[in-house]
Amino acid sequence: MKKFHVTTFGCQMNEHDSERMKGMLTSLGYTESQQREDADLILFNTCSIRENADNRFISHLGEAKRLKGEDPERIVGVGGCWAQSVKDEVFRRFPFVDVAFGPGQIHRLAEFLNSDQLSAQGYFEFEDFAGHLPAHRARQFQGWLQISQGCNCVCSYCIVPSTRGREQSRDPGELVLEAERLAADGVREITLLGQNVNSYGRDLPKESRVRFSDLLGMIDQVDGIDRVRYTSPHPKDMREDVIEAHASLPTLCEHIHLPLQSGSSPILKRMRRTYTRERYMDRVAMIREKVPDCAITTDIIVGFPGETETDFDQTLHVVEEVGYDGAFTFVYSPRRGTLAAEMEDQVPHPVKVERMERLVEAVQRRARERSQRFVGRNMEVLVEGPSRSDPTRIRGRIRHNKAVNFEGTAEPGQMVEVEISAATSQTLTGTERLLSGIGA
Ligand code: SAH
Ligand code: SF4
Ligand code: F3S
Repeated sequence: MKKFHVTTFGCQMNEHDSERMKGMLTSLGYTESQQREDADLILFNTCSIRENADNRFISHLGEAKRLKGEDPERIVGVGGCWAQSVKDEVFRRFPFVDVAFGPGQIHRLAEFLNSDQLSAQGYFEFEDFAGHLPAHRARQFQGWLQISQGCNCVCSYCIVPSTRGREQSRDPGELVLEAERLAADGVREITLLGQNVNSYGRDLPKESRVRFSDLLGMIDQVDGIDRVRYTSPHPKDMREDVIEAHASLPTLCEHIHLPLQSGSSPILKRMRRTYTRERYMDRVAMIREKVPDCAITTDIIVGFPGETETDFDQTLHVVEEVGYDGAFTFVYSPRRGTLAAEMEDQVPHPVKVERMERLVEAVQRRARERSQRFVGRNMEVLVEGPSRSDPTRIRGRIRHNKAVNFEGTAEPGQMVEVEISAATSQTLTGTERLLSGIGA
């Protein structure tokens, strides 16, 4: 039997797409190999969001080249955003690659493998959602649901619109059916995926058009699904109806990821984010008013072209004021073909690094402070498996998306109650409560 090996880089959308690749390959009769050197088919699902994403991948590609040299019958395939962004030159620069495909072309891998494969093939026009393909889930009780593909925003730093194309929403009826199938298969927690989930539905035909908040309500009704999450929303589309849904839908978790990028309105304008600092803070105020205990997390970029000390200070202010439960922080990285890469006033690297240090200090301090609100409370935890740092303990996640390490007897996929005894910026510690019902 032929074996495949897939390495995944990048965001949750790529994790989702890789699960679909694996599902498709399994249905073609392939089995998964744990080691790359044992595989007949070596695949990479790539990311190009920042330069270090590219660099990380290139050494893996070097190993694939060596393995292909040892056994020319091996097939090397690259999919995902990097592949899409180098589509015109991939076979010239990397002649050992047999097949390259963009994010909308995963199903074509099957066609390539079933053909005579006389020459290298590239597939790059968006054709279909990977969500239609069979999946091979990493976790039995957690599932992705791809609700849309692509992004219509024009953030000046971002490569995604050029790699994932224009936004297309999937039919809501089809999504409910898929959620029902996931539930029947043992999934308890669903994460809705899209580049900009809360603009979902605007491109649908009139007769099937629903808003993102309506879709949340439809998924909430699916029997067997206990938790619903989504990523990523855009602050410009984070309207009252979505925030209300967090207050009213029992399955929708108390966590909103609200990517700030910068706390300075002039920088936001140059980033083409289409909101100001004030509008962003209004969204935060609305969340705090309607869902007081909601966790808020964010993405922040430091050192965007033209960012002055005053601009950066504004970002620090927002971090202090909001008190994020967590934040992904990135040093700005110029990307090929983006507007910001051509801007003249690029920030010197040492300045970016120094600002990053100050930002991380503020983010972690505020997250640690925020975390203390869980100490002493009994929290509902979905168990994921043994703790990474101490296998005698169990790891899981609360609805607010914080990881918990705890003592207890629970099995993966179970929902248990844990009494929280300590909290750091990233994780909570506690003990499983054996004799009580769920409820914080
Ligand atoms: N569609 C999502 C996720 C985009 S990528 C969203 O808009 O929220 C995830 C994060 O990577 C972005 O939010 C941004 O903070 C960061 N990012 C994107 N392009 C970048 C670049 N060129 N340099 C540094 N960080 C970048
Ligand atoms: Fe990129 Fe902006 Fe689209 Fe997010 S919303 S994927 S940052 S262009
Ligand atoms: Fe990377 Fe593409 Fe996701 S660039 S972050 S894999 S959308």
